Amino acid sequence: MPKWAHLGLAVLLSISTTLVGAAEIDWWENASLYQIYPRSFQDSDGDGIGDLKGITSRLSYLKEIGITATWLSPIFTSPMSDFGYDISNFYDIDPIFGTLDDFDALIVEAKSLGVKIILDFVPNHSSDENEWFEKSVNREDGYDDFYMWDDGKLNEETGEREPPSNWVSVFSGPMWTWNEKRQQFFLHQFQVKQPDLNFTNPMVREHMLDVLKFWLDRGVDGFRIDAVPHIYEHRNADGSYPDEPVSGWGSDPNAYDYHDHIYTKDQPATVDLMYEWREFLDNYRAQNGGESRVLLAEAYSSVETLSAYFGNSTHQGTQLPMNFQLMYLSGYSTAEDVVGSIDYWMNTMWKEHQTANWVVGNHDTNRVADRMGAHKVDLLNVIVNALPGASVTYYGEEIGMSNVDVECTGDSCEDRDGERTPMQWTAGKNADFSDGESTWLPLSPEYQRYNVQTERGVSRSSLNIFKGLQALKSSAAFMAFKDDGGFSYEAVTKQVLQIIRTNKISEEYRILVNMGNDIEILDGLASKTYEYVLATAYSTHYPGQKADLSARIILMPYEAVVLRWLA
Ligand code: GLC
Ligand code: MG
Repeated sequence: MPKWAHLGLAVLLSISTTLVGAAEIDWWENASLYQIYPRSFQDSDGDGIGDLKGITSRLSYLKEIGITATWLSPIFTSPMSDFGYDISNFYDIDPIFGTLDDFDALIVEAKSLGVKIILDFVPNHSSDENEWFEKSVNREDGYDDFYMWDDGKLNEETGEREPPSNWVSVFSGPMWTWNEKRQQFFLHQFQVKQPDLNFTNPMVREHMLDVLKFWLDRGVDGFRIDAVPHIYEHRNADGSYPDEPVSGWGSDPNAYDYHDHIYTKDQPATVDLMYEWREFLDNYRAQNGGESRVLLAEAYSSVETLSAYFGNSTHQGTQLPMNFQLMYLSGYSTAEDVVGSIDYWMNTMWKEHQTANWVVGNHDTNRVADRMGAHKVDLLNVIVNALPGASVTYYGEEIGMSNVDVECTGDSCEDRDGERTPMQWTAGKNADFSDGESTWLPLSPEYQRYNVQTERGVSRSSLNIFKGLQALKSSAAFMAFKDDGGFSYEAVTKQVLQIIRTNKISEEYRILVNMGNDIEILDGLASKTYEYVLATAYSTHYPGQKADLSARIILMPYEAVVLRWLA
């Protein structure tokens, strides 16, 4: 977009704010969020693993593509049994990633660029190598009840101790493991090396607030809260733990889906914990100034539950309970299916709270190119950025990265490696991710075609479509989403999704997405003449071309376009 067009948008924006009094919106409400997996974004020291200095050197790229805030997967001291989701010191940076000084330098650069930094906060568990756990094993003063300990049940026949309940961990196998030293079982919703902290202990909650404060003081803008549904477990009044019922899914009793997790997921106390953390952040802001600090919540839960985590008229919780609904779409999903997924969120969250966010993917899920097909990457990017609210992009989705077949050997085999491969910056050695001899995961064999540098020079590349979408997010029409009637979405045919964004006075956008592999012919879609502002690679149209929607518009298979009408 030429520079003057931005000016025009800015002027329109201020006019529309005064004319129609567009609802006030806070920065996170229509933010473009971006997840960085630090091991894989940029290596600065040639060891083949990404680090903080690397991220700092690439922050200007986030600015270039229109990112508001980036959340980093864990960077804290860790034995890396779950690549940083097993924290041995919540107050320091792992040497693989750098030092606290490197972190401070990252914050300075981020602030000067105007890119917000959000850290991963992993409260449910620590590493078993955390000194808290060691103290707890030894029943040191104050740490005795820091984790979830239990004697288990005594089997009268064998005389052996058995786990307190039939609970199965998320990564399969028992959720309880015997600790020889303490002679008790401890609970772990994830790996054995990730013992669950005991949130019914006020001391634990205090410690976690202290962790939040430590990083807020270093200048972060918020946190992505890991594994929210797993924080609390139900305990009977007599101190025992109830077995979970069989779900009817599958036949392996050691698989997570075998049981219905009614006692280990989304327990009522979690809602209050969200309020507690939000209040802490709000108070911090009241005392220290600056813009809103935010909480993203990772919860694979019903939208009704996410709504509770968001809050109600008297209590505020997490601003961005992440909406994973669009991650469940597949290559077979029609425009009607997409509308169904959008509806589920909108009929609950939007209706109750006028808020929305749309997650494209993350480090635990196959990339869009694998879930839906490479030809649908741009379509999903268009949809999440055209819908009202915040979008959440996983690094590399903006250039159409796909999963890489990673050879799995030995114990360290991770079935999630495929979506965690190095960022593809250029067609050069190691895609410019690292100048070392090798990289911790292999580069995609396709990196010479899909990379930032190459895509900058291709007008309809995924990268340029993505950038074009970000520019739209600050237009008057897109900013008016909280105004009554400022947006709508529908499947105009089984395969064509239409999203309308308007400020109802000066501009209107129509976004058309053909999810199917047939040519679609749409007659008399609207009464006005529009102009193409964006068209994906499969389109036969170009920006600036007119589209008279009172006549007919033709969409090629997998084509998405953005049309604009200006008063
Ligand atoms: C979250 C993370 C995942 C991690 C798990 C345990 O689901 O996204 O990567 O393994 O929590 O911390
Ligand atoms: Mg827990």
